[in-house]
Amino acid sequence: MSPFHITRILPEDAAGAALRADVLGGLHRTPKSLPPKWFYDARGSELFDEITELPEYYPTRAEREILLDRSAEIAAATRARTLVELGSGSSDKTRHLLDELSGLRMYVPVDVSESALVHAGEALIAERPALDVHALIADFTRGITLPDTPGPRLIAFLGGTIGNLLPAERATFLSSVRSLMSPGDALLLGTDLVKDESVLVSAYDDAAGVTAAFNKNVLTVVNRELGADFDPDDFAHVALWDRDHEWIEMRLRARTALTVKVHALDLAVDFAAGEDLRTEISAKFREDGVRKELAAADLDRTHWWTDRKGRFALSLSVAR
Ligand code: SAH
Ligand code: TRP
Repeated sequence: MSPFHITRILPEDAAGAALRADVLGGLHRTPKSLPPKWFYDARGSELFDEITELPEYYPTRAEREILLDRSAEIAAATRARTLVELGSGSSDKTRHLLDELSGLRMYVPVDVSESALVHAGEALIAERPALDVHALIADFTRGITLPDTPGPRLIAFLGGTIGNLLPAERATFLSSVRSLMSPGDALLLGTDLVKDESVLVSAYDDAAGVTAAFNKNVLTVVNRELGADFDPDDFAHVALWDRDHEWIEMRLRARTALTVKVHALDLAVDFAAGEDLRTEISAKFREDGVRKELAAADLDRTHWWTDRKGRFALSLSVAR
């Protein structure tokens, strides 16, 4: 069997300290908010995988269609020997790229979810004994250091996860990715596109309630890690389309007036009836906006592909 390494860049307790700081800051703010990376404990990663199979959640199927159609072209354009994937999750769609990147020597999945990395890594080395997998447990918003692996490198950031960052955070993130790149390296970026409001809202508020469970899972994480007493049933899942910012905003809305205690922070937080806790945005993009954001980070977009229904885009960029 091929080697499977896993390196932890997030110290074991950094998650605890960062979670405390985020929860303290977020619950004192008006409006209240919690940052999204805390969705992805083992249960959250499982729920996200369920979301990708929902009839309403089109982004995964649309991106898979593009990868099936274009991976050979991506392989020819990049000739990558290392594939780095940020927010790799299950690495499921990535298999289409791995199938075509014939010179590939090393796959470096990067995620905050250790359970997702272990599952994906173990499955991949069993399927592909010739591939070296070096997984990194790391927060890609904090600037990462990559292992010394053969170039050229292809850095993939799929799933539209870039849309979960605010515009200013995206600019910082893209510049940090650019700084990891040498001449000849490339960035493959997945972006969900602006479309009809009803299609977007259904994708984030499905009939079976899986997205609602995913959104509420963040409360369970805070209960477990910080000794809080959130009752998920006290909150309703809300997905709103913000047409000015062109993003979907996920919230948890208190059904009644209530007080939540957060033991580890020695904190009691009041919610008014109907008060919202903002949990995540998912920005939707237009072709020109993506090109400009890439150019602002000194990245030259060379390819732009969409699925046949024009719902989702993959773009390939090179370091100028
Ligand atoms: N790429 C997969 C998964 C997308 S879900 C797909 O397209 O289906 C987003 C993934 O990013 C999750 O696996 C989550 O754990 C990871 N993630 C979210 N925020 C992160 C952060 N700040 N640093 C590293 N990984 C993060
Ligand atoms: N990157 C995914 C997206 O923006 C994450 C996601 C899907 C998500 N459904 C969600 C995040 C529901 C929070 C709540 O599509």
